[in-house]
Amino acid sequence: MAWQLCLALVGQRRRRIEPDEGEYRLHEAAGAAPELRLTEPGDPHAVARWLRATGWQVAPTWPPAAVELLNLYWPMLAAPQPAAPQPAAPQPAAPQPAAPQPATPQPAAPRGIAIAQLSQSLDGWIATRDGDASVLLSIALHRHRLRLRALADAIVIGASMAAADDPALREDAGPQDGLPMRIVLDPTARVSPSLALFNDARAPAIIVCGADHQRLAESRWGKGRVIGVPVIKRRLDLKTLLARLRERELDVVLVEGGGSTIAHFLEARCLDRLHLAQTGVLLGSGREGLHSLGSAVSPHEPQRPDARLYRIGDDLMWDCDLRAPAKSRSAGDGERRAAARLVVPGEFMRIA
Ligand SMILES: NC(=O)c1ccc[n+]([C@@H]2O[C@H](COP(=O)([O-])OP(=O)(O)OC[C@H]3O[C@@H](n4cnc5c(N)ncnc54)[C@H](OP(=O)(O)O)[C@@H]3O)[C@@H](O)[C@H]2O)c1
Repeated sequence: MAWQLCLALVGQRRRRIEPDEGEYRLHEAAGAAPELRLTEPGDPHAVARWLRATGWQVAPTWPPAAVELLNLYWPMLAAPQPAAPQPAAPQPAAPQPAAPQPATPQPAAPRGIAIAQLSQSLDGWIATRDGDASVLLSIALHRHRLRLRALADAIVIGASMAAADDPALREDAGPQDGLPMRIVLDPTARVSPSLALFNDARAPAIIVCGADHQRLAESRWGKGRVIGVPVIKRRLDLKTLLARLRERELDVVLVEGGGSTIAHFLEARCLDRLHLAQTGVLLGSGREGLHSLGSAVSPHEPQRPDARLYRIGDDLMWDCDLRAPAKSRSAGDGERRAAARLVVPGEFMRIA
């Protein structure tokens, strides 16, 4: 039910309508995205309520594992332009059993969010040398990835991943309103227009190239399917790209890989969150993960993002908040421990 609520909340976010204050039931019809519908106060089947002062809240009967799932996906569910006054601070992760209506976490909702996800092996590789990443995606991590896709307005991949995997990026994690825009970062328009994601009528796809290659790209893909952005030191200007996506109301951007693309986003400080999973597999060699972080991270001043650690299936995943104040190496042990909370299944149950 927590996941159905996530899908319903993302529908609310996309409609950009401020909900009416009150209690809501979850309405599910076969093949349709779940919806939240206003109900009578005190309805025992109400799953959530919305108050202008507090935002969304769930019933106190929700188990911690379900609240934890909402916590994990909350940054992608929050309205990008909150109409309500912001709550003073995020609420605790789990509900207090005694409280009448404990709140789900209410973030300081940003105008938009960019979130990246990556799975790496125990020895730090993100795919085999010939580009196969499937061994690093357990069923549970695959489901998590599908869920991230379902909540995103746009999915960004790099040219190498597009060429190596030819992913269709259209499997979904349950009925939802439309599919996210698929976006390939390809500065010189080198990938083939025959790739699966450019030939799928169900979901739109866009190519992002350097402004100097825009004409060439438009001649191959058509005008409406190309975004040209400035290139700075051989890198696409990602801040401009995110601004252009937000003009199209693509507020929640999932950067799905591969490693260099996510590294570029990190370097340009264009990521709000990073979901970095480690799978219990040794590959020996392969494709590098978050390499070439350049000026964004220095070994002399290592960053310690505010993070929570989840166990997903048999794997571990860091959920790093890259906008929260970074913890420096000098942070005390207690402070570090406070920043990392271990979460185990349920699927998402917090034990520490
Ligand atoms: N384990 C996982 O979770 C996971 C997830 C996704 C993908 N993968 C694997 O990752 C591999 C591909 O990763 P990768 O690191 O080799 O490549 P990648 O990130 O897919 O693509 C990198 C390329 O994209 C273009 N690009 C991306 N961002 C750019 C920017 N800001 N400015 C300019 N160009 C930009 C550049 O193209 P040009 O080369 O044309 O300059 C760059 O070389 C695949 O094997 C895939 O299976 C693994």
